Amino acid sequence: MSRGINRRWVLANRPSRSINRENFRWEESPMPSPAEGQVLVKNLWLSLDPTQILFTFEEAGENCIPLGGVMKCIASGQIVESRLPGLFPGDVVQGWFGWEDYTVIDDRPQLTPNLFPLTKIPTEVAPELAVGTLGLTGMAAYLGTMDIAKPRPGETFVVSSAAGGVGSVAGQIAKIHGSRVIGIAGGKERCARLVRELDFDGAIDRRTEDIGARLDQLCPDGVDVFFDNNALPAMMSAILVRMRPLGRVVLCGASQYYLGEQSTGGLDYISMIMKRIRMEGVYANDSGDRLPEARKALARWIKEGKLNPVEDVMVGLENAPEALQRVFAGANFGKQLLRM
Ligand SMILES: NC(=O)c1ccc[n+]([C@@H]2O[C@H](COP(=O)([O-])OP(=O)(O)OC[C@H]3O[C@@H](n4cnc5c(N)ncnc54)[C@H](OP(=O)(O)O)[C@@H]3O)[C@@H](O)[C@H]2O)c1
Repeated sequence: MSRGINRRWVLANRPSRSINRENFRWEESPMPSPAEGQVLVKNLWLSLDPTQILFTFEEAGENCIPLGGVMKCIASGQIVESRLPGLFPGDVVQGWFGWEDYTVIDDRPQLTPNLFPLTKIPTEVAPELAVGTLGLTGMAAYLGTMDIAKPRPGETFVVSSAAGGVGSVAGQIAKIHGSRVIGIAGGKERCARLVRELDFDGAIDRRTEDIGARLDQLCPDGVDVFFDNNALPAMMSAILVRMRPLGRVVLCGASQYYLGEQSTGGLDYISMIMKRIRMEGVYANDSGDRLPEARKALARWIKEGKLNPVEDVMVGLENAPEALQRVFAGANFGKQLLRM
């Protein structure tokens, strides 16, 4: 076949405290050819995840993206050439691909541990959903909500970064199970959309509102579940003192930590102990064996119209740095994706 151009973003320098276009360099090179044991994938959808930034730091060790190396991400794409038994041109796959038109890859682990192996996407799963609501994002929401939060009818479920990929799904799963759901998100319009578009029972703008005072208004009887994607100690404290007995706290994300913005602050541990609060981390990466179950449940809720898999889609590889910036600016509504 005649070989075209592969456009790609490589890491120009390592981000520090913020991420911007200057951290990356646009390059064009000949389209790669797969060697024996490899496939050539035409990328279709890139997932933009806050954790992606961790791979640009030297602390990532053997998983660190080298300077000049293509920026990596979870992505889905279509095989255009295969020299790997079992995979064929036309197959739609997902894996640890990159910010580029074409990725040449084999089926060996790309990361340690082997987090995002080259996998065929079932035909009934759309390639954008596979790397979003039916992928790691939905898995984290599903496992955190179903295994740890265990929402019950009549309970009050508070979720932070509620306008994001994980948060929007977690809140909706709690609603499906009959809980009252209050979202915390940055921005007035994003909060309004949670109520308007996702049927949340209330929303708190963490940028402009006093979280404690708003919780007193919206949850006068207290909070049963807090599903946390922010890891902001002041927010955590405001919620913990309002937790009801036997409340559960799901620790899911900590976006600001990834850019070194760690903050310190007291947590009301005494209150947690006396109320026998359960606080537990969720880690979808090592729960791959639960993916079929999670996908089945999430897909069913989508089909039944109970779960809106909200996606925030940027179009065009040239916009990849801005798409990643959006999750650190809290600009996205739903799962941040890039359509190639
Ligand atoms: N445990 C797991 O298995 C697992 C799996 C997937 C994702 N995660 C984590 O879950 C969280 C949500 O992931 P996602 O992919 O759905 O991302 P997301 O929520 O769509 O986007 C990240 C959100 O983080 C918030 N944020 C950004 N910068 C921040 C800062 N400096 N301080 C505090 N909040 C900030 C913003 O929301 P607001 O401004 O509205 O708060 C932004 O929308 C992330 O921390 C991610 O790493 C965990």
